[in-house]
Amino acid sequence: MVETSDEWIKTRTGIVERRVSKPEDEASDMAVAAARQAMDMAHAAPEDIDLILIATVTPDYRLPSQACIVQKKMGMKNAAAMDIAAACAGFLNGLSIADAYIKSGQFRKILVIGAEKLSSVTDYRDRNTCVLFGDGAGAAIIEPTEGERGILSTFLKSDGRYTELLWIPDGGSKYPYQSLNGSDPRVYIKMNGSEIFKHAVRMMGEASLKVLESAGLKGEDVTLMVPHQANIRIIESTARRVGIPMEKVYLNIAYYGNTSAASVPLALNEALRNGKVKENDIILMAAFGGGLTWSAAVVRW
Ligand code: ACO
Repeated sequence: MVETSDEWIKTRTGIVERRVSKPEDEASDMAVAAARQAMDMAHAAPEDIDLILIATVTPDYRLPSQACIVQKKMGMKNAAAMDIAAACAGFLNGLSIADAYIKSGQFRKILVIGAEKLSSVTDYRDRNTCVLFGDGAGAAIIEPTEGERGILSTFLKSDGRYTELLWIPDGGSKYPYQSLNGSDPRVYIKMNGSEIFKHAVRMMGEASLKVLESAGLKGEDVTLMVPHQANIRIIESTARRVGIPMEKVYLNIAYYGNTSAASVPLALNEALRNGKVKENDIILMAAFGGGLTWSAAVVRW
């Protein structure tokens, strides 16, 4: 479709394959599939969930929220539901919000989902972006725990000065969808890759170091780092800054590419199922995304 090569993509990004939904597949169905797996693992029933948080930039509709669509599809009749718009950092923002609500006592069983159908907003004529993005979903159930296990600390930050480094100009109230057609590049993700790259390394490093510091931990205490899977070179630089060897970093970018808000929970789920996460392990998660936004969480599993 564009002037590129397998060699360029592998060496510059670490991406080998990506998953792309059919045009008729709904992003909410991926969210529901991930939620079902998380609920099985947590032995939770739909009526137990009292808050649904979905991080996404690709909801089925602009109105209502994707969280309400998932609530309907899953019959979670006792829940409140809302979306989080923080691009690739969205799942960790969700984890932080869930942590605060649990600690406040307002909610007791929170479903946090990261789900994206980025293929619906990817311009397959733009080589700067079309080789990077994939579709996917991941989910977690957050609830109160006894003792020392659980979320030890979270960190979130954003910088709105850089909104135009990564954005979809169309589809908001400024340029409603009806005003443009599918051949107009403004309906797709536009990205300044090299600028994002520079910020990403600084932001993932800052988020990781700050979240460890507030938990009273250091890089060497981390059993496994689960970073946002955007570019292998960003991950390597971040791990170096934080003092974590690459053997302790979970990677699946080669198989999924950048799935935005789905990236961290997809990787966490895989790490868990591959036996890389054991009770009491210290897990560091960090992400950055459009906004710009950056967040991290550290968990004693
Ligand atoms: N194939 C071949 N060449 C390409 C391709 C491609 N797919 N894409 C860009 N190039 C070219 C550029 O045109 C440029 O050519 P030029 O020098 O003739 O102008 C050259 O490669 C180098 O371009 P750079 O942008 O400097 O390449 P870089 O090494 O930075 O890699 C990349 C580009 C992979 C996009 C990188 O910048 C990156 O990963 N940035 C971060 C992107 C990201 O992580 N976004 C995350 C947020 S996503 C979200 O929030 C939804």
